Amino acid sequence: MNITAVIPAAGSGERFGGKKQLKNLNGRPLLHHTLQPFIRLGLINEIVVVVAKGDVDQVNRELRSMISAKPVKVVAGGKSRQVSVHNGLTAADDSSELICVHDAVRPFVSEDLIEKAANACSEHDGVIVAQSSTDTIKRIMEDQILETIPRETIWRAQTPQVFSKAALQEALELAEAENIQGTDEASLLERIGYQVGFVEGSSLNIKITTEEDWVFAEAIYKQLN
Ligand code: C5P
Repeated sequence: MNITAVIPAAGSGERFGGKKQLKNLNGRPLLHHTLQPFIRLGLINEIVVVVAKGDVDQVNRELRSMISAKPVKVVAGGKSRQVSVHNGLTAADDSSELICVHDAVRPFVSEDLIEKAANACSEHDGVIVAQSSTDTIKRIMEDQILETIPRETIWRAQTPQVFSKAALQEALELAEAENIQGTDEASLLERIGYQVGFVEGSSLNIKITTEEDWVFAEAIYKQLN
């Protein structure tokens, strides 16, 4: 199976106060760290990095210094993550059968995790990486707790998320036509009846969203290197 990794990195970083995907972690942009396991893993045939329109040239220059035996394309993203992923999918090679979507702001994904998700795709239309919730989850309205949701049924979705290219394309096109915005790609497949499985994720595979997350990122980097 030919697999294209699509790495959405076109966010403006409003909650962080800047583009954390381009901020240096140990002297290299975060994006550089995120790409390494995808470059190393033989299973991935090509990588499409999706960045803001104004960053395409700069990121292209930076990525040129990276040694990669496989094609790494840089394309412009859109207003939402969904549009960015769609642009990435459109840039994928015609031979690609699976699309592996991974947030640029999750720099500690391992080759094992990518491989585990991709391999599980033989039994599903898509597979996501998820972690069970250790917190008790409440549904809240205004200042009131409405209910407590049984924790055993709650899983937190991470990326990578791997999909059949045809199914992901259909899900993105239908969502666009119906003006639906999903917070991940799996939800767009689920809603039109595709069957999405999961594999267990890792607590090191954090998503860097806020400034506080950067502190965790530096600590995890030190631990892993
Ligand atoms: O917005 P969210 O936290 O879901 O962002 C996850 C990933 O999607 C980030 O790597 C971000 O750069 C990317 N993104 C994008 N295009 C957007 C918004 C977010 O590629 N318009």
